[in-house]
Amino acid sequence: MQAVKIREGIYWVGVKDWELREFHGYTTDKGSTYNAYLIMDEKITLIDGVKAPFRDIFLARIASVVDPAKIDVVICNHVEMDHSGTLPDIMGIAKNATMYCPAAGERGLKAHYDTAGWNIKTVKTGDSLSIGKHTLSFVLMPMVHWPDSMLTYMADEKILFPNDAFGQHYATDTLTDSEDLDIIIDQAKKYYGNIVLPYGAQVQKVLEAAAGLPIDMICPSHGVCWVKHIPEIVAKYKKWSAYETDADKAVIIFDSMWGSTEKMANEIADAWTAKGLRVTLCCLKTTNISDAVNAMVEAKYVGFGSPVLNNGIMPPMGAFMTYIKGLAPKNKTAFVFGSYGWKKDALGQIEDTVKALNWEMPEPTFMINWRPTAESLAALRESAQKVMTISRD
Ligand code: FEO
Repeated sequence: MQAVKIREGIYWVGVKDWELREFHGYTTDKGSTYNAYLIMDEKITLIDGVKAPFRDIFLARIASVVDPAKIDVVICNHVEMDHSGTLPDIMGIAKNATMYCPAAGERGLKAHYDTAGWNIKTVKTGDSLSIGKHTLSFVLMPMVHWPDSMLTYMADEKILFPNDAFGQHYATDTLTDSEDLDIIIDQAKKYYGNIVLPYGAQVQKVLEAAAGLPIDMICPSHGVCWVKHIPEIVAKYKKWSAYETDADKAVIIFDSMWGSTEKMANEIADAWTAKGLRVTLCCLKTTNISDAVNAMVEAKYVGFGSPVLNNGIMPPMGAFMTYIKGLAPKNKTAFVFGSYGWKKDALGQIEDTVKALNWEMPEPTFMINWRPTAESLAALRESAQKVMTISRD
């Protein structure tokens, strides 16, 4: 295994996890990468580690450039174990290394590992560290993604190392955004929607802090590095962190029992499409909740459908409500619908979630008894179209 040079004296020493299909409840159909960076300077510096099972590959990549025992400085931008899992190995091998992290990072490292003998120095926003030719400076970015999260900036090379921010769970053969931009942006949106979404205010602070920095390269801890398309991903982060939605995008998330709610979902999709919306249908029997969230990030209109089951909603819809209550997307308009046999008013868990999220819900929940008819579907269509405020007709 070889390190990959990204600039003179700066190497990618990460790992590609092509087989990863799940990351704390999030489906990763394109795998992931754990990116770490080695800087050959007067003080040999490592920025972040990788997930523990990949230690051999990680150490081999470092060893292709330098004996890991010679590492002088370890930057821990984030304690989550996909990045810190191999830091105990590094600190065990590089006996003279000093680790730099925020105070919350030090607390996190001590909670996760036996740090006896580690030389840890804490940093805060505005601190900088000369490693020889290069100087690294630090900006704390709590909650993007954990309280300890931090970005490291190398001013002379104009490189940002923002850890999880700007990342994607995406394993590919290239290290940068030179190919397949649509896939990369979609994976960045899925990552943002499922991991960063609750922290819009904190992301905006990071964007403000980074706005004054000249940046030629963004090297996150997952996926490809941004070189060619920095303005695009920064614009997307501004949009997502401001919870801006597209008035021509809709998603319908539903589950069905004997097909009535599914028929309703398709009728609503047809009605919205006829009015010019781009509509994505997500049946939770076949669509993972993390993909449904990805479809929802930029959508203005969200349909939620469930048949009544045991005086409540279908369990996958219940799980989805729990999930989005935590992710707290904003600025959306909901349309709630479903079918029932003998208990009509049972979609309260969905209605309560919409209320808790402070979304608009201009139409009452639309329920159809047993099987949809031509008349009830026509009425559903009319109700669904009333929630829209735009039309391309
Ligand atoms: Fe990639 Fe929050 O860890």
